[in-house]
Amino acid sequence: MARAVSKKRTVSKRHGRSRAAIAKKRPNIGTVLPGPKARLILNKDRRYVSPSYTRFYPAVIEQGKGVWVTDVDGNVFLDFSSGIGVVSTGHCHPEVVKAIRDQATKLLHMSGTDFYYPNQANLAEKLAEIVPGARNKKVFFCNSGAEAVESAMKLARYHKRRTRYIAFTGAFHGRTFGALSLTASKATQRKYFAPLLSGVTHVSYAYCYRCPFNLQYPSCDMTCVKYIDDVLFKKVVPPEEVAAMFIEPIQGEGGYIVPPPGFMPALRALCDKYEILLVDDEVQSGMGRTGKMFAIEHFSTKADIYCVAKGVASGLPLGACISRSGIMDWEPGSHASTFAGNPVSCAAALKTIDLLENGLLDNAARCGDVALARLSDLKERYEFIGDVRGKGLMIGVELVGDAISKVPVKDRRNAVIYEAFKNGLLLLGAGESTVRFIPPLVITENELHMGLEIFERALRKVFGIR
Ligand SMILES: Cc1ncc(COP(=O)(O)O)c(C=O)c1O
Repeated sequence: MARAVSKKRTVSKRHGRSRAAIAKKRPNIGTVLPGPKARLILNKDRRYVSPSYTRFYPAVIEQGKGVWVTDVDGNVFLDFSSGIGVVSTGHCHPEVVKAIRDQATKLLHMSGTDFYYPNQANLAEKLAEIVPGARNKKVFFCNSGAEAVESAMKLARYHKRRTRYIAFTGAFHGRTFGALSLTASKATQRKYFAPLLSGVTHVSYAYCYRCPFNLQYPSCDMTCVKYIDDVLFKKVVPPEEVAAMFIEPIQGEGGYIVPPPGFMPALRALCDKYEILLVDDEVQSGMGRTGKMFAIEHFSTKADIYCVAKGVASGLPLGACISRSGIMDWEPGSHASTFAGNPVSCAAALKTIDLLENGLLDNAARCGDVALARLSDLKERYEFIGDVRGKGLMIGVELVGDAISKVPVKDRRNAVIYEAFKNGLLLLGAGESTVRFIPPLVITENELHMGLEIFERALRKVFGIR
């Protein structure tokens, strides 16, 4: 107990926020939403910005600190979205900002494609150390999650001299043509963009709440994995042509789906059987989000290639594809990118990893348990909460019509998220009918409960409970 208290103190102190200030802070909505200044920005945005983005509600944010953001009209929100899982160390963490500032005064860009600089090699060394598996690894730097996935796709083909890929229904791996070919979370994301890359075959993810084979774990005996071997590889896809299998160890955009313990080891065994590379997409689930550095560590499995981005640099653009050195055997000129591994992003990433290793991983695990317990309690009380699942601070709450029919209630899910916004809590959806909880990893228990209270009030309002 004494240890937990002192850890809490460290978490708030080191993250630039006194405990007294945290205790006093509350969401504060002082205008109608959107407020007058926000409306001006929204009009300009509507006129000039691509309509392809998926904004859920009109939050026009001006500044952020920790788990709090303030909009252009001075309204204060609790951010349980982390800018889609990016600001792992919280908004504008003082140590990350300092690292960025220090680096920015020395060197903004040189291009790791043609030159060397210390930060890039230092970060590669650190990533090689923290990614599961033997230390002998190499890192390809890029700028985003989709680019990390593209790199893994190209690397797998190059190394294996095989052309096909396996991916999963519900997967989200990004929106560039290669990554989009693996993505299968929403048809809108693919509509009118065909033809995509050929040679991608999708199989069922272990979504046990809605098992595609209508079975139950563990008596199912991992039928979803056996199907790949017994049916797909025998009748449709020659396994010796498959370069790689891409998997999110916890599915993100597809609905925050945690597979059962046997799923990842079974996939590993299948890949080993046919010498297929297992690619672990940790873009959303990695960098401490689940209370471990990488979500795959929850399943005692190691991949051949890892993709990271989002939370790795606390908000600056950076992606990386990491593999054993023996796999990353492509020759000079085969793959590169001008901005990749930018020195300022690398500085932010080194500081981010330092903060994760020194308190935030533990905080994510501890606060995640608190959040899961409280949300599971809500599930006992409200029939329209079909499932609560997650690890650490990567939690999904799937809303349904009722526990028996499990009918998805997308409109009500969206209404809950909008209601939470009106009351000062920023949430995002995932999948068809799930609300996701991904606050910055600096969150305190007090802040967590504040947000969950707003969420419960929003649920009660939308589902008509007095
Ligand atoms: C698991 C996963 N992979 C890849 C991506 C693509 O990342 P980006 O949007 O940075 O291209 C995402 C984005 O949400 C993701 O969740």
